[in-house]
Amino acid sequence: MSPAKKIVVVTSGGDAPGMNAAIRAVTRAACSRGWEAFGSRHGFEGLIKGDLRPLGPREVGGIMQTGGTILGSARSKRFKEAEGQLEAVAQLERLGVSAAVVIGGNGSQQGAYALSRAGLPTVGVASTIDNDLVGSDVTIGVDTALNVALEAIDRLKSTGSSLGRAFLLEVMGRDCGYLALMAAVAGGAEAVVIPEVETDPDKLAAEIRAAYERGKPHGIVVVAEGSRYNAASLAHHFTEHKEVGFDVRVTILGHVQRGARPTYADRMLATRLGAAAVDHLGTGRHGVLVGMLRGEVAATPLAEVAGKTKPLDLALLELAGMMAL
Ligand code: F6P
Repeated sequence: MSPAKKIVVVTSGGDAPGMNAAIRAVTRAACSRGWEAFGSRHGFEGLIKGDLRPLGPREVGGIMQTGGTILGSARSKRFKEAEGQLEAVAQLERLGVSAAVVIGGNGSQQGAYALSRAGLPTVGVASTIDNDLVGSDVTIGVDTALNVALEAIDRLKSTGSSLGRAFLLEVMGRDCGYLALMAAVAGGAEAVVIPEVETDPDKLAAEIRAAYERGKPHGIVVVAEGSRYNAASLAHHFTEHKEVGFDVRVTILGHVQRGARPTYADRMLATRLGAAAVDHLGTGRHGVLVGMLRGEVAATPLAEVAGKTKPLDLALLELAGMMAL
């Protein structure tokens, strides 16, 4: 058994379905080594305040199947400043906590990097519905968020086909078009709008008009929230300036995508990455993000992850277009 350690688990930024499964995995992997585990309440804020709760195998029972995070999350402004970071490290020292696992996306991994540079052994766990983190091909929460988007598309198709309508479905993803593109391909959308590719509203309207003329019963356009034109402005353009054939409606999926029961894929990913994070701390490999690269658990230095975003592979854009025939 490795020397007794007290570790703290932090969930930070936007919650993602599967975060609870990751908290469970970190806690049980730590306890199985004879370590003590604590959870920080509301992300990095809990570290600054020294607001930790003990986590044991029973405290994390029954949470794997739930969305959100039992620890609470936050986008802490104070922790972005050096003063907040030093206060957090000082609190942890006082409490005898010797390592941290940070479960979250971009902003959170910047925080993990700050903790690591301040001298606290820290490992990040890749978790964000946006799937824009360097160091992981897929992040915890993405699969569930995509399945929610697919369900929305399926439902919109059934009502859209009944009344001959086009739906502009706006999905989350911040500045990344991953969720929109994957949902468009797997959902069989007629068109997709993403921030990575310039959109011409007139051309888009022509595409939807063409789909109408080919006899399609509905026109589904998946719009990434970070795109230059949002769903409402495109709908306005369609109805005011261009005849697309279909009657036009807008649906904004928003946070519905985040608040879901995690799928099998997210529970499994969270369990593997959470346990791997503890394994890394146990063998002294810290200052890294654990994620999945080419189907294997892999560690990437936080220095290479923090403040960067993974570019979207646009190869599927062509497939989306071909399948919309
Ligand atoms: O980063 C996750 C995410 O859900 C983004 O897709 C979205 O832009 C953002 O968080 C929303 O943030 P908030 O929950 O603070 O409104």
